[in-house]
Amino acid sequence: MRLVILPTPNEVTEWSAKYLVQKVRDFKPGPNRYFNLGLPSGSTPMGMYKKLIEFFIAGKISFKFIRTFNMDEYVDLPEDHPQSFHYYMWQNFFKHIDIKPENCNLLNGMAEDLEVECARYEKLIHDSGGIHLFIGGIGPDGHIAFNEPGSSLVSRTRVKTLAQATLEANARFFDGDFNKVPKSALTVGVGTVMDAAEVMILVTGVSKAMALYKAVEEGVNHMWTVSAFQQHPRTILLCDDSATQELKVKTVNYFKGLNSLHNKLIENFDKEEP
Ligand code: GLP
Repeated sequence: MRLVILPTPNEVTEWSAKYLVQKVRDFKPGPNRYFNLGLPSGSTPMGMYKKLIEFFIAGKISFKFIRTFNMDEYVDLPEDHPQSFHYYMWQNFFKHIDIKPENCNLLNGMAEDLEVECARYEKLIHDSGGIHLFIGGIGPDGHIAFNEPGSSLVSRTRVKTLAQATLEANARFFDGDFNKVPKSALTVGVGTVMDAAEVMILVTGVSKAMALYKAVEEGVNHMWTVSAFQQHPRTILLCDDSATQELKVKTVNYFKGLNSLHNKLIENFDKEEP
């Protein structure tokens, strides 16, 4: 696991966007070679989407041959509800870039049969050739996508009841009223994300510090589902200084000492043309 520690959330979002651009360029997508990208919603990746739009406008990346798969969606929230992840993705990202609408995949939380919908999504990912890079965010309780504490670490896409902590954390998007937050969601499983060739998880702010500590310094534990990624061969945890507050000074110094190595991963960003 790589732990990339940067001073501020802005630097985290810029680094993540540059890394994605670099990965896509290296992959050289084309009409018969799509890059499959897993995406999160939430406040953390918002800056990354802004940066990616900037890079698209500057001609540094095209999304024409990229397929996206979002991690999760609330149950019973229509696509045009301002708090649905569909709405979030279209408003904050898709409508500003050259991605084809048919290549933007999200779970349908309004599906008549939610289990069929989850199975459809798993098959779609599988039939598309798997995800090349899954970008994720985490909740303060260490959940990845909506894999709440106690989720199976080999879980697949399914319906999940949301934990009280998640309802409270996400109430800010529903007029501060946690009663308005949908009580369940469709989510890719931990196993679904683990199958991606590469995973990059964005962690910013002190509210995520305990989760980062559990993910990095303690063992794999289903109560902190993000810790499963210790067993993934290619995971980058990308965090800001505030998120490291529960880590040992020794851990922080160790990973910061590797920063020049980590920065090599994005060093060609300004040199190469798409
Ligand atoms: C929700 C989503 C997660 C997201 C998390 C953190 O619970 N299901 O995918 O990572 O929120 O959101 P934020 O970035 O707003 O803290």
